Amino acid sequence: MAYEAAEQPPYFNIDPDRALAELGQPTSTGGFAEIAAACARGREDLASRGLNEAGQKSLRLFSTWEITKYLIPVAVAHFRRVLKQNPALPQGQSETEGGAKWFTLDEVLRLRAHFASEGSKAKEYQPYRPKGVPAKLVAVANFKGGVGKTSTAAHLAMSAALDGYRVLVLDLDSQGSMTSIFGGQVADEWQTVFPLLARHYGSHLQAENRARIARGEDPLPLDDTLSEAMKVTTREVIQSTHWPNIDLIGAQLNLYWAEFQIPVWRMQSRGWKLWDALTEMLEADGVLEDYDLVFIDTPPALGYLTINGLAAADILLVPLGASFLEFDSTGRFFDMLHSTFASIETGENMAARALGRDELAFEWDAVRAVVTRYDGAQQGELAALMQAYLGQTLSPHKQDFTALIGQAGEQVNGIYEADYRDFNRETYVRGRMTFDQTYAAFKRLLLGIWRRDELAAEGPKSGEESRELAGSAG
Ligand SMILES: Nc1ncnc2c1ncn2[C@@H]1O[C@H](COP(=O)(O)OP(=O)(O)OP(=O)(O)O)[C@@H](O)[C@H]1O
Ligand SMILES: [Mg+2]
Repeated sequence: MAYEAAEQPPYFNIDPDRALAELGQPTSTGGFAEIAAACARGREDLASRGLNEAGQKSLRLFSTWEITKYLIPVAVAHFRRVLKQNPALPQGQSETEGGAKWFTLDEVLRLRAHFASEGSKAKEYQPYRPKGVPAKLVAVANFKGGVGKTSTAAHLAMSAALDGYRVLVLDLDSQGSMTSIFGGQVADEWQTVFPLLARHYGSHLQAENRARIARGEDPLPLDDTLSEAMKVTTREVIQSTHWPNIDLIGAQLNLYWAEFQIPVWRMQSRGWKLWDALTEMLEADGVLEDYDLVFIDTPPALGYLTINGLAAADILLVPLGASFLEFDSTGRFFDMLHSTFASIETGENMAARALGRDELAFEWDAVRAVVTRYDGAQQGELAALMQAYLGQTLSPHKQDFTALIGQAGEQVNGIYEADYRDFNRETYVRGRMTFDQTYAAFKRLLLGIWRRDELAAEGPKSGEESRELAGSAG
């Protein structure tokens, strides 16, 4: 707060006795429980304001204006005509007699499917996705906190869902922010990825025990947790959300326990490939065929959960602000990524070479740093410098700082859940553009990768053509 020039600054003349009078008693361990309980009551109060009677989040409706501008590329008049001609299609609901028509997202998806099958083949009603390939996994990570990991992951998940993709969101952060955004209900660690990781270890232990028994050694017992986990499948921990085409594997505080449990398992059995746990469980349960995209939100740390998420990912996005401190610590994050994955490869490959097996080499389809909360007026110079040093690794699109994120209200999360009528139309359009562009930059990356996969699957001849294509485009 500003003070008069004649006044002294606020940190002079603080009276110790008055400070003591304001202080209160020291805090004991029990004090934390009281504070936590007060937070929980407040949280419940806040959360209840955005939920319907059943305690479930609900998604807003979408207007004809919004559908024809943002979701299905048709002219309003044509849209209305097609609906009129097809009474079996969702007709929407209006708040007033003859007023604008509003549709649920489920209805929008049905309408889009109709246009895709009946409408002009020249138009992109359904987003590109090669047939018969599993979902792409996208991890959003940075060990620096508050850089926009969760906001970026949540907005990308929502944009992709609006675009027509089937999305699974995986929360690896025991803070559970992503889970709250999608209204997830997680009672304990058994409704998170924890049992999947435990099952992966349990299966490894069972295989190892067979070898032990064959050698005449005693098997290592599976404790209660592992035995219980052996029965859990990925589909059991997936919950649906208030978005018809977004599902969730949630997180809550107990998930943090995995950070202590995983190293214990690893000590017990050195051969356990913990970094494969997540990928192999999702694959084993056939989940990757059910989705187009899996977005993985990670905690601000490079712990075992993050390593699992990163190892599972095809695409790695690293959000950071265009500030010196964030650039600096992001550089160190990449350094940590290098040493972590290099040491896993070295450890594995000594054994692999000795046994004449294939060597382990991690590979990501693409790794991109993404500038978030960008303020062009203040940060242009730093962003240009970052671009110069990072080159292609830095996504050319910068996600602007937008007040719309914080303002959207407690019951909605981010721009796509907000009702545009709550904002000045221009403010809305600009705010939405920020995240539409973040999505467009991501989708460009995704389509390039899918196309590369598709050409590779078609065989070497097409590969040759694709190189020619790439050459002529460059
Ligand atoms: N483009 C943006 N414009 C304005 N505010 C933003 C933007 N992106 C994120 N924020 C805000 O910045 C804060 C941190 O964002 P977020 O929670 O996504 O970061 P995070 O990296 O997931 O944090 P953590 O490390 O704690 O998981 C939030 O208050 C969020 O609303
Ligand atoms: Mg977060």
